[in-house]
Amino acid sequence: MLINHEVALVTGAGRGIGKASAEKLAENGARVILADIDETTLAEAEREFLEKGYEVKTLQMNVADFPSIPGKVAEAKALFGAIDILVNIAGITASRPIEEITEEGWDRMMDIDLKSMFFITQNVFSIMKEQGHGKLVHMSSLAALRGGRSSDASYAIAKAGVLNLSKCFALSGAQFGVRSNAICPGNILTPMGKTLSWSQKDPKTYIPLGRYGKAEDIANAVLFYASDMSDYITGDYMNISGGLYM
Ligand SMILES: NC(=O)c1ccc[n+]([C@@H]2O[C@H](COP(=O)([O-])OP(=O)(O)OC[C@H]3O[C@@H](n4cnc5c(N)ncnc54)[C@H](O)[C@@H]3O)[C@@H](O)[C@H]2O)c1
Repeated sequence: MLINHEVALVTGAGRGIGKASAEKLAENGARVILADIDETTLAEAEREFLEKGYEVKTLQMNVADFPSIPGKVAEAKALFGAIDILVNIAGITASRPIEEITEEGWDRMMDIDLKSMFFITQNVFSIMKEQGHGKLVHMSSLAALRGGRSSDASYAIAKAGVLNLSKCFALSGAQFGVRSNAICPGNILTPMGKTLSWSQKDPKTYIPLGRYGKAEDIANAVLFYASDMSDYITGDYMNISGGLYM
C-alpha cells in the first residue's frame, strides 16, 4: 500500500481520469471522497467502489459555483475528518477556431478549468497548513505546454494557468509540508477524449508509443504525486503523452 489510510478529495471523480485516479488511490489504501457535478455517475462510481471494498464517500458539487466552495470543502473534511490529498481533475474542453471564442465561452472555460482549481485549492490549503502536511495534484494538459488548436485556445490558456497555480501553491506550501504538482496528459481515451477530433485518427501514425493513453496511465502519476514516493518533488509536472510531446 502506497497510501496509509490518508484522505483524498478527488474532483471530476464520476468518470474518466477522475474515476480512474480515485480508484487507484483507493486500491492503494486511501479513503477517497468522490466529488462531481453529475449525481448519476457519482452514485454509479460509489456503488462500484463500495462493492470492491474501497472506503469511499461522495460529494456532489459544481466546482465553478464559487460561493459554495468553502462550505463544500468543509463538508468534505467532515466526511473523514481530514483532507490529506487533493486531486483537482474536474474540467471541460471545447474545440473552436481561435476567431470563434466568445467572451462568454472564455469565461466559462476559465471558471471551470482554472478559477475553480484555485479556490478549491486555497480552501483545502488552509486545512493542510493546519495539519502540517498535504499533497496537491492538479490536472493540466499537453495543451498547456504546446498551445491548443484542436482543443481550443481558451482551454490551452486555462491549463497553462493550472501549471503556474501549482507552482504558486508549491512555493507557499513548502514550509508547511504541503507539496503541489501538476500532470499534463496527452491524448487520453476517456468520454471527453472521444469527443475530440484526434480520437478519429490512427494513433500509430502520430503518437510515438503507437496508442492513445488510458485513464489508468494518468492515475498512476496521480498515485505517485499523492504518495511518499514523490516526497522530494514539488512545483513539478509530468508529461504523459506517449512521446507526443518531448
Ligand atoms: N482526455 C484527455 O485527453 C485529456 C487530456 C489532457 C487533460 N485532460 C484533463 O483531465 C481532466 C479529466 O478529463 P477526462 O478526459 O476524464 O474528462 P471527462 O469529461 O471524461 O470527465 C470530466 C469529469 O469532470 C466532471 N465535471 C465537469 N464539470 C464539472 C463541474 N463544473 N463541477 C464538478 N465536476 C465537473 C464531469 O461531470 C466528469 O465526471 C480534465 O481536467 C481534462 O481537461 C484530459
